[in-house]
Amino acid sequence: MSDDSRPSPASTRTAAVIPAAGRGVRLGPGAPKALRALGGTPMLIHAVRAMAASRAVSLVVVVAPPDGAAEVKSLLDAHALPERTDFLVVPGGDSRQESVKLGLDALPPEYDIVLVHDAARPLVPVDTVDAVIEAVRDGAPAVVPALPLADTVKQVEPAGTPGDPEPVVATPDRSRLRAVQTPQGFDRATLGRAHETVTDDVTDDASMVEQLGARVVVVPGHEEAFKVTRPLDLVLAEAVLARRRLNDGF
Ligand code: CTP
Ligand code: MG
Repeated sequence: MSDDSRPSPASTRTAAVIPAAGRGVRLGPGAPKALRALGGTPMLIHAVRAMAASRAVSLVVVVAPPDGAAEVKSLLDAHALPERTDFLVVPGGDSRQESVKLGLDALPPEYDIVLVHDAARPLVPVDTVDAVIEAVRDGAPAVVPALPLADTVKQVEPAGTPGDPEPVVATPDRSRLRAVQTPQGFDRATLGRAHETVTDDVTDDASMVEQLGARVVVVPGHEEAFKVTRPLDLVLAEAVLARRRLNDGF
């Protein structure tokens, strides 16, 4: 893409799409994951507030569980959210990828930067959100917040039967690996093209842009942008919230 086809920073408009349509199978039985409470407030509301906390974000599109759009709409009405931000709710699909696509389809034409943020990362700090937007404004078509890994990673030949020993194939150099988070930020046209072109199963949006051959860059992520996936993650999320409340109180 040529530089002059990019919007100038002063005129950019940024929207955030929040896929929240998953069931949360790994978290165990209960309500859809995004609707589970954290510190008494649904995880989704935390995620929406985290996006709306950025002054650059003027629209948040929530992709709700297919049968839960009405419930999500009333949740948004019931919780205090910044007045400068608009909200839209659309029903999601069977995969994260489909849900994101449905969210993108609902975006009005005037938005030229789009963030995609997991409802399951309710505690991402606003500085991380702003750093991602800034890097897109500076000209990167796709920006991913990420952290170095704490664990060494092994590539294996997966066992046919779960629990069986798995032969190790390789040990990638850990210093060159990053664990990626959200919000991932995109030039809207580039992400739209990726979602129309790439049909392989992917677990993040940036990998679709990589498949297009466009440039994807990583910026520093944040510990508190972890994804609530398993029950222990809920314990950690409650602890982070409790620490924030304590710090705000002094
Ligand atoms: N997601 C979605 N639509 C789907 C599947 C997932 O919008 N069909 C969203 C989830 O709501 C979540 C994000 O994608 O905010 C990241 O997915 P993940 O953490 O895997 O959530 P779930 O798919 O709900 O959890 P699990 O895989 O354990 O069922
Ligand atoms: Mg999932």
